[in-house]
Amino acid sequence: MRVVILFATLWVALVNAHLAAWNKGMYCLNGNTGAEDLNSYSIVTPLYQLTKSQWWFHHENGCDNFPPKAGDFLELPAGGNFTIEIASNRAKTSLSYNGRDTSAWPDGETYPEDYNVPGCISSPNMHTQNQSMAAGTAFAISYESDIKKVTAENLAVFSVRYHTPWKRITSYSVPAAMPTCPEGGCICAWGWIPNGCGQPNMYHQAFKCKVNGATATAPVAVAKPPVWCEDDPSKCTKGAKQMLYWNQLDGNNIQVSGYDRSGSFKSPAYNAKCGFPDGAQNDIFAAPAAGGSSNTGSGSSKPSSSGNGSPSDSGSGSNSNPSPSPSPSPSPTPDVPAPGTPSTPSSSGNGSPSNSGSGSNSNPSPSSSSSPSPSPSPSPTPDIPAPDTPAPESPTSSNNDTTAPVPPASGGSQGTCKRRRRRRSTVPFKGIHHHPHSRRRPPSW
Ligand SMILES: *[C@@H]1O[C@H](CO)[C@@H](O)[C@H](O)[C@H]1NC(C)=O
Ligand SMILES: *[C@@H]1O[C@H](CO)[C@@H](O)[C@H](O)[C@H]1NC(C)=O
Ligand SMILES: *[C@@H]1O[C@H](CO)[C@@H](O)[C@H](O)[C@H]1NC(C)=O
Repeated sequence: MRVVILFATLWVALVNAHLAAWNKGMYCLNGNTGAEDLNSYSIVTPLYQLTKSQWWFHHENGCDNFPPKAGDFLELPAGGNFTIEIASNRAKTSLSYNGRDTSAWPDGETYPEDYNVPGCISSPNMHTQNQSMAAGTAFAISYESDIKKVTAENLAVFSVRYHTPWKRITSYSVPAAMPTCPEGGCICAWGWIPNGCGQPNMYHQAFKCKVNGATATAPVAVAKPPVWCEDDPSKCTKGAKQMLYWNQLDGNNIQVSGYDRSGSFKSPAYNAKCGFPDGAQNDIFAAPAAGGSSNTGSGSSKPSSSGNGSPSDSGSGSNSNPSPSPSPSPSPTPDVPAPGTPSTPSSSGNGSPSNSGSGSNSNPSPSSSSSPSPSPSPSPTPDIPAPDTPAPESPTSSNNDTTAPVPPASGGSQGTCKRRRRRRSTVPFKGIHHHPHSRRRPPSW
């Protein structure tokens, strides 16, 4: 008994949970069992080297099957800001115990305002050295009410916050021109690709959301994949952009190789390097069918004549990117969804048309989807952190797409938009985490 307690204590002390965005509108608030769980953390596990059917909305552990309580939405005030909580466990948010276990930080602990660990902060597991190096996080929206109808193309990034994740309470700005959602609400997503400091994984979690106070009606344009454009901003994808999908077995929509301008391995993120400005993404709207002034939300625009499937008028807008995304589109659906008319065709799950980069960044090792997180006991131990879910080492023979190396996650990967000279450390983050991939040097490096 004593041994067990000792072990548990050590484990709690040594293992640092990952992070997620918490709000009553989230899927998986109670974890993935269906029972109320004030200490849930199923959603915080990172996604790495999974098939699209596994990583999409965190299906790998079933989080997408647990919608919020009826009537609970992440509320997005058009032209205003909304707040979520970034935390390692529900217990560390205001959604449990009346906030008893919260602090200004994601794990309920206290740290200096200028918290800085040159070898990477591991508590909380923010995958950064300090605030200025934090990669950036984003929210995206789909005007579909049914999560199964959400695709990479109809899920457009509408807000980015540079230098996050950092503190627990984090706010994002909503474009003033966001149209209202259909009756059943919209589906939103939170995403984060850390910048080094551990496994080069990503986060993709679902919310039910709705837009309050909308005055504009031009729909969000079909989202196109972002591209790495640090060296030439004119190359950045303009207009509505997809979320970043990276380092998975399939469904990737960006690939990078080599070094960024600071000398670190390129790591796509929600910041200027991939063409995302900080704050509200005001250029994501399709031109209205008529009277088309601009995308910046003159609430006067008429909704494009919905439904009659004439693709021509909808695609004519100039400001955004009404043209079809480069990836093949399976059907002749109009590019621009009419407001309130759940658009696009592509099947949400597997191998959707966005799989342009499928797997080419992938690293020889496969991951078993499983990453079994021990299920939390409903006991009073409020904060058993999720394990670091390292992907298994064994190479698979089935992955035939291993040409491009994954940059080793050097502890010193650099940060968002600051240009800093960093050593190209080949020594991975030497924390308590087990990050097997960061130890492996891809053959070509
Ligand atoms: C929203 O947040 C931004 C950035 O923090 C701030 O500049 C702006 O004033 C806020 N807007 C409102 C309506 O609170
Ligand atoms: C943040 O970390 C980077 C990388 O270690 C370092 O170059 C920079 O000086 C740090 N900034 C602060 C404010 O500590
Ligand atoms: C990998 O793909 C190539 C070309 O498609 C094929 O010739 C080869 O047999 C494949 N290898 C494996 C292990 O599937």
